[in-house]
Amino acid sequence: MNTTIIKCIENKINESDLARAGQIIERGGLVAFPTETVYGLGGNAFDEEASKKIYAAKGRPSDNPLIVHISCREELPALVKEIPPVAEKLIDKYWPGPMTLVFEKSDLVPSQTTGGLDTVAIRMPSHPVARDLIRYCGVPIAAPSANVSGRPSPTSASHVITDLDGKIDMIIDGGECNIGLESTIIDVTGEVPVLLRPGYISAKDIEDLCGTSKCDAGIFEKPDEDFKPKAPGMKYRHYAPSAPMTIVGGNPEEVATKITQLTAGERLQGRKVGVICTEETAKEIEADVVYTYGKREDGDALARSLYSLLRKMDDEGVDVIYAEEYDGEIMKGAITNRMLKAAGFNKR
Ligand code: TXA
Ligand code: MG
Repeated sequence: MNTTIIKCIENKINESDLARAGQIIERGGLVAFPTETVYGLGGNAFDEEASKKIYAAKGRPSDNPLIVHISCREELPALVKEIPPVAEKLIDKYWPGPMTLVFEKSDLVPSQTTGGLDTVAIRMPSHPVARDLIRYCGVPIAAPSANVSGRPSPTSASHVITDLDGKIDMIIDGGECNIGLESTIIDVTGEVPVLLRPGYISAKDIEDLCGTSKCDAGIFEKPDEDFKPKAPGMKYRHYAPSAPMTIVGGNPEEVATKITQLTAGERLQGRKVGVICTEETAKEIEADVVYTYGKREDGDALARSLYSLLRKMDDEGVDVIYAEEYDGEIMKGAITNRMLKAAGFNKR
């Protein structure tokens, strides 16, 4: 298949490109598009065949449900059984934006889209191109992250091209994603909102707004073999580079010393070592490939560049990766969760 690549200018897609994208979706095809979190791989959420194509293009297990994207609140009631008061609160504050809510689904949503579940995950993105696309199509858009299953999510069009060129109809290039980590997922089907995947919106944000919240197990600790997370996707090794990764923690001097020692050991074995760390630590260590994202406290920069750095490590062909543990406050839950998952919960 020939994949058409379209460029946006200043977060705007022109009318004729929008019409081409709309036509693809209408005919059951797939379009990758930018959002404020990561790139999505979109198809008509009402079209079971489109969902099947999404699973096939990603190589994703079909029991892992897709997020349904809408462009305005008026589209929500038809997709769900009810909108609980706690959901109204969250929507008022955080939509459009990096938040996905899990509701009881209505009969309109095919079970192919929801991986056979009776619930549906819904998100209203804030990215202008995503919103224009969904509005133009006139149907909700089912969209997982636009990566091959298991690889880090794409935060630029070039990542999508690497993973999906030739497998999908169109890629809309809207530059780099601003947040860089996937949306916060909250289950609002019960009495208390349950955090299923941390993101830009934190557990504390939810608690401050709703008065209470719970956290699904397996977000910060390695789950048991038979544990079933409420978000099926959270059970897979995820967001991961090809080389095994280890997170290295401790105070700044300790981290530098530990990384230096670990690196020396690996090099003696003839292995190529990649390090992801803060600018401060980078000055203290030596390895084959060292990538920094910014200063110690700069969580926004780390979130924005984490997946891209993991992909770069793959490109460099390193044998092992050591990543400095993140110790800042900004997006702490989301960054820690994604790093732990990329590292298979390996920590020193
Ligand atoms: O930021 C995002 O959410 C991006 C952009 C494209 O919107 N999308 C994204 O989709 O990250 P994906 O498919 O890569 O991750 C969706 C997660 C999976 O872990 C899936 O299991 C969970 O959402 N999920 C989807 N529907 C669900 C449901 N009904 N109940 C529980 N979890 C659900
Ligand atoms: Mg994903």
